[in-house]
Amino acid sequence: MTWRRGPIGGHARIGEAVGQDACDPRAPRLSVFGPGPAAAAGGHAYTGVQAAKHGKGRDDKAQVQFHYDVSNAFYALFLDPEMVYSCAYFRDWEADLATAQIAKLDMSCRKLRLRPGETLLDIGCGWGGLVCHAAQHYGVRAHGVTLSEAQFDFATKKVRRLGLEDSVAIELRDFRDLSGIEFDKIASIGMFEHVGLDNRDGYFRHIRSLLKPRGIYLHHAIARPMKATEKKFRKGSPEFRALVKYIFPGGELDHIGGSTDAMERNGFEIHDTEGWREHYGRTCRLWTERLYANREAAYREAGEAKTKIWLIYLAGCALAFERGTVGIFQTVATKRARGASGLPPTREDLYA
Ligand SMILES: C[S@@+](CC[C@H](N)C(=O)[O-])C[C@H]1O[C@@H](n2cnc3c(N)ncnc32)[C@H](O)[C@@H]1O
Repeated sequence: MTWRRGPIGGHARIGEAVGQDACDPRAPRLSVFGPGPAAAAGGHAYTGVQAAKHGKGRDDKAQVQFHYDVSNAFYALFLDPEMVYSCAYFRDWEADLATAQIAKLDMSCRKLRLRPGETLLDIGCGWGGLVCHAAQHYGVRAHGVTLSEAQFDFATKKVRRLGLEDSVAIELRDFRDLSGIEFDKIASIGMFEHVGLDNRDGYFRHIRSLLKPRGIYLHHAIARPMKATEKKFRKGSPEFRALVKYIFPGGELDHIGGSTDAMERNGFEIHDTEGWREHYGRTCRLWTERLYANREAAYREAGEAKTKIWLIYLAGCALAFERGTVGIFQTVATKRARGASGLPPTREDLYA
């Protein structure tokens, strides 16, 4: 598995970066990561059908924390000031990362058509970027859930720092434990990748149960292009299997049709689907450049081996988006109800 020359310099293999061939199944697992919760659990992060298949003992929290709890200081070395860890939106390709991430938060709020006093659930709220932006600029009452303790600590402090305690609540909680409450709007940004293909139906059914009739759901997720058959699609590539093993335990990517089919099957009406592939290529390239520029600090924070693996992962993701071997889509859907959807007749308001 080789990658073209990128900002981290030269051709590289994941294993070479740390002195062993990590892609060789006979190679010992990288000691910096240990066996990895994905391997220990035998599948991806989301329980449900998969849990039934793989039996008890799967630990979603462990899988999520494996990736996100490297340390907040480490992520701050390459993310923007709002700590958004998903695709930015470049109104102009020359825009810097901070500007593009604010534009993405804002575009997400526009697509959700947030109004003052509405309630918003952000599933997988990360470091709290969207919930804080939505409360500050759109006057909503926002509820964010994450499985990462480091993110929870950071987001809770951010809410306090911004004086948003009355309008933003952050919980260290699996979103599947939420029930008996309905939100006006729900966002899921960069979280669906944790769910797993066999769990799509349960996932969308649960989101539907948390949404008011005609409530808007914004679905933002990385996707792989569909292959000739579902069987070929599910096979995946060796590169992706290595990524799951060493970086993103539990990760699994759908094709966009698989996701929208599942949404429709589970009571959603699809309104818009917008591809942001090149935006994510640019985002990942900027993340790589920033982490590379800050590599000495990253070595001190997370260790040299882990930093190098992260650099290769980010550069590999940049290439994959740039080449088009993966894509990313924002899909706007509503909880299906008879009659008018409640959306405006055109999308002009989004791009004004
Ligand atoms: C790639 S991060 C995206 C964070 C944020 N939405 C952003 O755009 O910056 C994925 C998030 O999903 C969360 N997550 C994954 N599975 C979850 C679950 N079952 N319940 C709640 N949060 C979950 C992780 O903790 C993390 O915050």
